[in-house]
Amino acid sequence: MEITITPLPADKIKDKIKDQAQLGFGKYFTDRMLLVEWKAGQGWVDARVKPHEPFQLDPACAVLHYAQEIFEGLKAYKWDDGRVALFRPEMNARRFNQSAERICMPAVPEELFLKGIEQLVALEKDWIPTAPETSLYIRPAMIAVDPVLGVKPSDHYYFFVILSPVGAYYAAGFNPVNILVEDRYVRAVPGGTGEAKTGGNYASSLMAAQEAKKKGFDQVLWLDGRERRYIEEVGAMNMFFAYGNKIVTAPLTGTILSGVTRDSVLTLAPTLGYEVEERLIDIAELMADIRAGKVTEAFGSGTAAVITPVGKLCYKDECLQLTGGRVGDITQKLYDTLTGIQTGKIKDEFGWVRFVA
Ligand code: COI
Repeated sequence: MEITITPLPADKIKDKIKDQAQLGFGKYFTDRMLLVEWKAGQGWVDARVKPHEPFQLDPACAVLHYAQEIFEGLKAYKWDDGRVALFRPEMNARRFNQSAERICMPAVPEELFLKGIEQLVALEKDWIPTAPETSLYIRPAMIAVDPVLGVKPSDHYYFFVILSPVGAYYAAGFNPVNILVEDRYVRAVPGGTGEAKTGGNYASSLMAAQEAKKKGFDQVLWLDGRERRYIEEVGAMNMFFAYGNKIVTAPLTGTILSGVTRDSVLTLAPTLGYEVEERLIDIAELMADIRAGKVTEAFGSGTAAVITPVGKLCYKDECLQLTGGRVGDITQKLYDTLTGIQTGKIKDEFGWVRFVA
């Protein structure tokens, strides 16, 4: 499908963010976006790169009432030689369509997903920040726009992509975060939508996050919805625990997100001399293992969060400190290697990088 490039009027051109240390996460947006529509009986039509501007939506449209919405997150990096690299965008295209199937939305052809992002990023490449810990965050999403109040899959969808120059996801940058294990609320249950990247999962996480924040925590760690016993994920990250040279993470059982960074860590770690294991992690056993000094490090992984060290983990009335509140050696090594590959400082032996023309 051809993608039309509509002209950018002078009043839609914004000033670039000069102080990259002030970027934060997801606060600024570039000048252009991609929009493609799906209509019943026609399929995908009218792909265009256009100014980043508000949608005009009927207040009855389905996404506003029944949350028929999915999204993705990936990043673009500007290398020292001027080339622009995307990190494993095919994985996002695949996961987007898995989410689409679960939420009864049409699949976006992988070629359209990738070509749309590449053309948009190429046009907006001057927005890619280059300071350490910065990148251009790419947010593809799909919403149901039928103005009908019956609960049913929509006949009209917008697939769109917006771009945001970002710094670290957590305000403290690459520094340990404090995590509260959530033992009241649950995020997902077997058969639910926990595996899909859909807005509803994030809306229902807000109350737990807000209560945890009031107590001074950065994030909550979810337990399984049936027994509240096994570690699942932190809303914006999958979790890893280092037992000496072995790093352990929860398996993909249908209730947690299949993270691209999680998969990259599992692939990368053995090449750096670490063992990896995917298994159910019982929270009581984990706390006992931290207490006994068997767990030496913990970190989260995610596109926005990259690799984020965990400083303190609290469950019920007990708080345990990991790695003396410092960044552990394994966490540091994985962070350096992953970001090295993404930014072209370390050779990509895995075929993960895809250049934008
Ligand atoms: C990402 O890491 O890209 C995500 O989608 C997490 C988001 C909640 C910031």
